[in-house]
Amino acid sequence: MTKKRLGVLTSGGDCPGLNAAIRAVVSHAKLSYGWEVLGIPYGTQGLMDRKPAIELTAHGLDLRGIDPLLNMGGTILGSINKGDTIANTDKILAGCEALGLDAIVAIGGDGSLSILSELAKRGGWKLIGIPKTIDNDVGLTERAIGFDTAVNTVVDALQKLSSTAASHDRVMVVETMGRTAGHLALNAGIAGGADVILIPEVPYTVEGICNKIHELHETWKQNFALVVVAEGARTLAGESRKYTDLQGNKRLRGIGDYIADSLSQCMNNRVEVRVTVLGHVQRGGMPSALDRILASSFGRAAVDLVAAGESGRVVVWRNGDVDSVSIEELCLHSPRLVDPYSGLLKTAQAIGTYVGEVDHLP
Ligand code: F6P
Repeated sequence: MTKKRLGVLTSGGDCPGLNAAIRAVVSHAKLSYGWEVLGIPYGTQGLMDRKPAIELTAHGLDLRGIDPLLNMGGTILGSINKGDTIANTDKILAGCEALGLDAIVAIGGDGSLSILSELAKRGGWKLIGIPKTIDNDVGLTERAIGFDTAVNTVVDALQKLSSTAASHDRVMVVETMGRTAGHLALNAGIAGGADVILIPEVPYTVEGICNKIHELHETWKQNFALVVVAEGARTLAGESRKYTDLQGNKRLRGIGDYIADSLSQCMNNRVEVRVTVLGHVQRGGMPSALDRILASSFGRAAVDLVAAGESGRVVVWRNGDVDSVSIEELCLHSPRLVDPYSGLLKTAQAIGTYVGEVDHLP
């Protein structure tokens, strides 16, 4: 096996488990194959700006034998989820060329992987992807790095909110991230005992939520409720809550407040409603055990694909093990939304959760 110089980068919004994946890539590439590994700071932005690459060692941030990468949140390489890559293609390709890499392992969501795949074709790079996102909406993989930790973060918040909700007879509305996908809200809502779970894939009505809260009170003498709402949740008319930021980008924001105000109105102010927007807390913290295992397995498999001379592929999680698919195929199947007829949604309904107007699904 000839000695290789491998580049590794993180791209898109960060999440817990990125450093664990970097650690696995570096350890396997160095210990099993004896390759050199360079960390590319800030992904394509770093290549464009010619930011100095970081020489990574098998005990990257070794502190008397303690390697913190396994449990550190965020990414030691930095990441960006904005910028005009197409307009800067030549600069990015030149930056990559200057590093003299044999292959790149990119840890990113489907958006980043699709852009990088295009650059790889133009620059003749060998590219292997590793999927990450707390939204868990990357196609053809059952899991992406970061999702499990984010679910646990939301569940922790729900548990804490349930006691104060019960003490004050309040409705707690908890807004989660997820963009157009409801995986995070649905999984955390079930695990955290939510009474209402609103996701983009199933439209809701305010009346439906009010009826549920009324039923809890009348039938079960439960005077409080937990409402989990994904940032992209939509009404029957297809309306979500959006705003345009100063750069002109459309962003999802405000669904928690909207639901709270609508509930207060619908219930004639008979209930007290409070809102918690979890925001970027969901992207922070130490990765869960499951995310560390996933990140380690993905890192190992990505390096093996490089060793096998593969390119243009992404490692994915299927049936409890790592597999790989082509980046193009994966992007074609992204974003992967919640199947409204899935067992998980049926589970939520079966245990008494209002999950929207399922009768109005196509
Ligand atoms: O895709 C991950 C995600 O955290 C989404 O759930 C969320 O809408 C978005 O990123 C937030 O991005 P930003 O970091 O730009 O605020």
